[in-house]
Amino acid sequence: PRPSASDPWRPAVHLTAEKNWLNDPNGLVYHDGTYHAFYQYNPRGNSWGNMSWGHSTSKDLVHWEQQPVAMEASVDEEIFSGCIVVDTNNASGLGSAQNPPLVALYTSAYGKNGALPQGAQAQSAAYSTDGGTTWQKHRGNPVLNLEPTNNNFRDPKVTWYEPGRYWVMTTVVADAQVVKLFKSTDLLHWDFLSDFSGVGAQGGLWEVPELLQMSVEGSTARKWVMLLSINPGGIAGGSGMQYFVGEFDGTRFMAEDAAAPDAPLQESQWLDYGADYYAANSVSGAPGGKPVLLGWMGNWDYAQHVPTTPWRGAMAIPRELTLVRGEERFELRSGIAAAAREVLERGEETSKDLTVSSGSEDLGTDFAARTQLIDLELDLGTAREAGILLRHSPDAQDGLRISYEKDSGTLKVDRSNAGTSNFSEKFSPYHQVTGRPADGKVRLRILLDTSSVEVFAQDGQAVVTDTFFPDWDHVGASVFSMEGETAFAVRSRAL
Ligand code: FRU
Repeated sequence: PRPSASDPWRPAVHLTAEKNWLNDPNGLVYHDGTYHAFYQYNPRGNSWGNMSWGHSTSKDLVHWEQQPVAMEASVDEEIFSGCIVVDTNNASGLGSAQNPPLVALYTSAYGKNGALPQGAQAQSAAYSTDGGTTWQKHRGNPVLNLEPTNNNFRDPKVTWYEPGRYWVMTTVVADAQVVKLFKSTDLLHWDFLSDFSGVGAQGGLWEVPELLQMSVEGSTARKWVMLLSINPGGIAGGSGMQYFVGEFDGTRFMAEDAAAPDAPLQESQWLDYGADYYAANSVSGAPGGKPVLLGWMGNWDYAQHVPTTPWRGAMAIPRELTLVRGEERFELRSGIAAAAREVLERGEETSKDLTVSSGSEDLGTDFAARTQLIDLELDLGTAREAGILLRHSPDAQDGLRISYEKDSGTLKVDRSNAGTSNFSEKFSPYHQVTGRPADGKVRLRILLDTSSVEVFAQDGQAVVTDTFFPDWDHVGASVFSMEGETAFAVRSRAL
């Protein structure tokens, strides 16, 4: 479905389900030229429950085609988050040498007559021998259970560890703030490796961990990166995503402080500074050499109450990650994934260069699209603050306000007056990140899509992802400069 006056917040270039609730992306895999996204899905309602794996496929990471539900909840077992890998050598024996299976590792959340007591969570396997269309649960489930049985043991994500020639699985004991690592050679028998805990943000559940190996941009060095969602306790309130950079020796992951390699690292870094980026994990086998991440564009603080119907929940634009050595530490840079970028950049570009002095200027109908990719450069001459107002009313009394304040170096996305927000008291008003561009010019790549905005600042040094629910008719776009002069270069492609 496309956005329309009767479905005014339906994204045009982001993954949604036709109807009903979705949250975390699961089982992301690139196979035979197709991207598969499975996700936490309620086939029977528009709020969280009956957790099943929904399924959509895409060739370009922008246009998605919904498929039949892959694994459906029963009274015995809900299917929580997990991953998929291609078992190329049929090590699991769940396929054949000629037809290697896709193997899913997922969390069984047990109900009434499950294999484990009601409320318990453990890791199970399922497989597909028809390219991901249909799935069979493994007979020996669960394949990994803690003793004693645990109610918050979940979110398996598997990666191949070449030096040891085994698979490594990260999981969490969510309410103990521990990541548990296991290894396996057949995806069915798992041996404990180590715990990762005691660092980073601790103020909520740890969920959806992932260990990634990445090369450091411009060098031959490789590092390991741990992605970890936390809820609540995120940087923008509620759900958020932290990450750690360090070393993995085949057993243990150690986060390090690049400035003081011997001192144990205490602080995490953040993958996004907005309120709506959670549970992101990478596409197994994605082409291009960089991790491609899909995240849920939601926040448990209010996701259950957002005013969309008959669907609720969308995925963020797929991103690719680059690891760079910053001045004090290794840092991730985020950009729109190449395959998606190619589609989004295809359209014709409209541009406008202007200087505004203590006031605002309407950009006109050329910049009035509800879905557009905007590249904005701000050169704050004498101005104290400058930015862009999107989706505003004709009188510009409302709108999504993206601004940069020179003295404090603060980039701020303010959705407090950008449409419907009374559905939840926890719908936080604005989010910000500080940083100073070396050449004084602020460069923002803004993906606006009917009910969301993703702001990639300074070539992806920081990202702010936020949902908001504007009036369908409010399509104004203006730039503003406060207490002085700012030069703007605005480029936009309507999508
Ligand atoms: C994260 C999460 C996971 C869990 C799933 C349940 O958003 O809470 O930890 O597996 O969602 O839907």
